[in-house]
Order: sequence, then C-alpha cells, then structure tokens
Amino acid sequence: MIKFISVTKRYKDSVPVEDFSMEISAGETAILSGRSGSGKTTILALAAALTRPTSGSIEVNGKQTAKLPEEFASLFRRESVGIIFQNYNLMPNLSTLDNVTLPLLPTKTPFRQQRERAFELMEKLGIDNKAKIAAGRLSGGEQQRASIARALINNPPIVLADEPTSNLDAKLTDKLLEIFAGIKAEGRTLLIATHDKAITESGIADKIIRTEK
Ligand SMILES: Nc1ncnc2c1ncn2[C@@H]1O[C@H](COP(=O)(O)OP(=O)(O)O)[C@@H](O)[C@H]1O
Ligand SMILES: [Mg+2]
Repeated sequence: MIKFISVTKRYKDSVPVEDFSMEISAGETAILSGRSGSGKTTILALAAALTRPTSGSIEVNGKQTAKLPEEFASLFRRESVGIIFQNYNLMPNLSTLDNVTLPLLPTKTPFRQQRERAFELMEKLGIDNKAKIAAGRLSGGEQQRASIARALINNPPIVLADEPTSNLDAKLTDKLLEIFAGIKAEGRTLLIATHDKAITESGIADKIIRTEK
C-alpha cells in the first residue's frame, strides 16, 4: 500500500505538494492526474523515498519513509519499488541490456537468469534488438521502454510510473497496458501519473487521484 497523510514538500521558492493525502491499498492500481506542474513527479519521488517531505507521514509497502535516512532509503527502493522515470534516467554509456539488468546486480540472481529475464522484458517491449546499443543512442521511445524494463526486472511489489507512455505509439501503449494488467493480476500495487486517455479510459485503474483541488 501507499499512504500519504498531510504531506507537504516545500522548496525555497515553490511548494509542489501541500497538505496532500492519498491511500492506495495493496494490489490496487491508481492514476495520478493533474495539470503539468501540479506535483505529480514530486509525489512519485516522495513515494519512492528519492526525496523526503517537509512535513507529513508516508507509508509505502509497510514502511514509514518520511524520515528514512538515505542508506535505508536506498535499500527500501531496491526491495520495494520499481520506478519508471519521466526523463528515463538511463546510464547513457551503458548498453540497453546493462541498463535493464542494473537493478539485479546487487542481488543473488545468477548471471544467466539476469540476462534471460532482461531479454524477456526487452522482447515484450520490442527493444531486444537494441540490447548491445548504448542507451544514449536510443530514440526517446526506446529509452522509455528500456526504463520500463529496468523498473520491472526485479518484480517490485510497488510500481511507480511517471507518464510512461509519453513517447510510445498506440501499439506500444497497448503492450504496456498488457504488462500493467499482468502486474495488477499478480496483486502488485501500481501508481501511474498520466494524462494519456489510452490509460485513463482503459479501465485498469481502481481509482483516480487528483493533484489539484
Ligand atoms: N527540486 C526542486 N526544486 C524546486 N522546485 C521544484 C523542484 N522539483 C519540482 N519543483 C517545482 O514543483 C512544481 C511541481 O513539479 P512536478 O512535481 O514536476 O509537477 P508535474 O510532474 O505534475 O508536472 C513545479 O513548479 C516545479 O518547478
Ligand atoms: Mg511530471
């Protein structure tokens, strides 16, 4: 589950999230909706414990993360969340395959299994033919798919997706929706920031959470 109670995130010159509460039960799929600049990316970063709130409490996958020191937060991220970043956040000099398998490096998963799992995801997303190419040389849509594969390779109990179809055509969007449906069927929790009608009208979401009043 993901539970925010009265969460505020304040920067020196902006307050992207103010007194924000939401609750997404384990196994639920929620869409985070709101205009650009309304705090969606900040809310996902808070849920991933990539940043801490100024005030309020946050519980994700049974863990209170609002005041978690970074050394515990990185362990929490590794065990609990898969993040599809809005700006992909790939390592440009590493190959697509290496980027996708990155989250498995600290685990005990045998090398061969790591590669099998990576190819399975890359095939589903149609980027297996790009396995050896440096991520920095991929197109925007290919980078987005590599970032999706990397987020899912660990089978995380919580998946956070930030405008995951912004660079995908209708066919690839359908593929991603299929993958999301599989995640949902496995009882995992999904939070998707999106305006894409293909997602909002697909019926995948149990609830829509708005970032503006
Ligand atoms: N690190 C930061 N420092 C200062 N302001 C920030 C920072 N991150 C986000 N903001 C501001 O917070 C607001 C919300 O941003 P964001 O969460 O990216 O919204 P959205 O994803 O809905 O477009 C924006 O006005 C942005 O400029
Ligand atoms: Mg955003």
